[in-house]
Amino acid sequence: MSKEGIVKLIRPDLVNISGYAASESLEEVAAAAKLPVSEVIKLDANENLYGCSPKVLEALGKYGSFSIYPDTGQREMRELLQGYTGVGSEHIVAAGGSDQMIGLIMQLFVGPGDEVINLPPTFDIFRFATVLCNGRAVNVPRDENYNADIAAIKKAITKKTKLIILANPNNPTGTPTPQKDILELLDTGVPLLADEAYVEFSGETVTPLVNKYDNLMVLRTFSKWAGLASFRIGYGIFPPEIADYIMNIKMPYSVSAASTIAVRESLNDIGFLMGRVKKIVAERERLYEELKKIEWLKPFPSEANFIFCHVLNGTARQIHEGLMGRGILIRYAGNHLLKDAIRIGVGKPEHTDILIKAIREIEAERA
Ligand SMILES: Cc1ncc(COP(=O)(O)O)c(C=O)c1O
Repeated sequence: MSKEGIVKLIRPDLVNISGYAASESLEEVAAAAKLPVSEVIKLDANENLYGCSPKVLEALGKYGSFSIYPDTGQREMRELLQGYTGVGSEHIVAAGGSDQMIGLIMQLFVGPGDEVINLPPTFDIFRFATVLCNGRAVNVPRDENYNADIAAIKKAITKKTKLIILANPNNPTGTPTPQKDILELLDTGVPLLADEAYVEFSGETVTPLVNKYDNLMVLRTFSKWAGLASFRIGYGIFPPEIADYIMNIKMPYSVSAASTIAVRESLNDIGFLMGRVKKIVAERERLYEELKKIEWLKPFPSEANFIFCHVLNGTARQIHEGLMGRGILIRYAGNHLLKDAIRIGVGKPEHTDILIKAIREIEAERA
């Protein structure tokens, strides 16, 4: 069969799909800035610049069974997560990153023509995963301070609504949603997916409510607080019957033995890792104050490990490029909802110092 013949067989709804715009790799940025990889400061994907616990690396080196498939029932992983979240393991399923879990949840609930209420500007995987299932993302834009518009969300619910997805705090804006608003959404009876990827930085979770509401699902990750983004470890907390369905539809062995070791050792070193989370939260507040001093930036308060800023003089793209040329990577957004904006990850204090100096240099070059 010719290549064109094969393409004709692709699902019509996916023929023109554009991929998800993920962050650039360290190697790409280093090459663009003509710098060694070790000198690149990557503040574009909300990663943890302190890295993972050294206990993880030590334990991986000692593991002797990488040639054997991992436990597809995730027994140890689910028990570890029970200990961490305080919710019974029957509620919990792990996946290769919370991205993969979003895909599984969509596969379980969303078919052709089904609607998913999405609250842009937000994490674009929600739209992407909806479209992959041939569902329709119904956008209910956030207000000018990026708060979720609860009345408008309730109005957007139809018979076809399968899910409401709320990132709390929101990415890219860092905005939290108060628990009373979440309760109001839960009272609609529509399944609500609360994505708490940054909960360790915000301290606000609705996890205990999964025992009370059979329409609440919570998503968490080890990518951010535990510095394990490259391991791909996310998990969902569900009503037990939904957890059973997710276990049934997931691919076997989808969580590696290495991931289970990484989770076990991170939890063994939780005091150390939470100390770093505290440092990141303190640095977030310092970065916010520093960004506020730059007249043409409007930073928004954040409960996550990044800060979102409007660039008031319309130069977001130039700032992004100027920083990239100096080996500092931030996220740039120029779509209609975000106006002209950047999102900056919170690193160590020295990263803040280098970043602010670089922004001032770029400003001076423009003057
Ligand atoms: C809101 C939100 N959910 C999920 C993810 C994905 O996390 P993971 O690395 O677990 O796939 C991110 C990553 O940036 C995120 O911002």
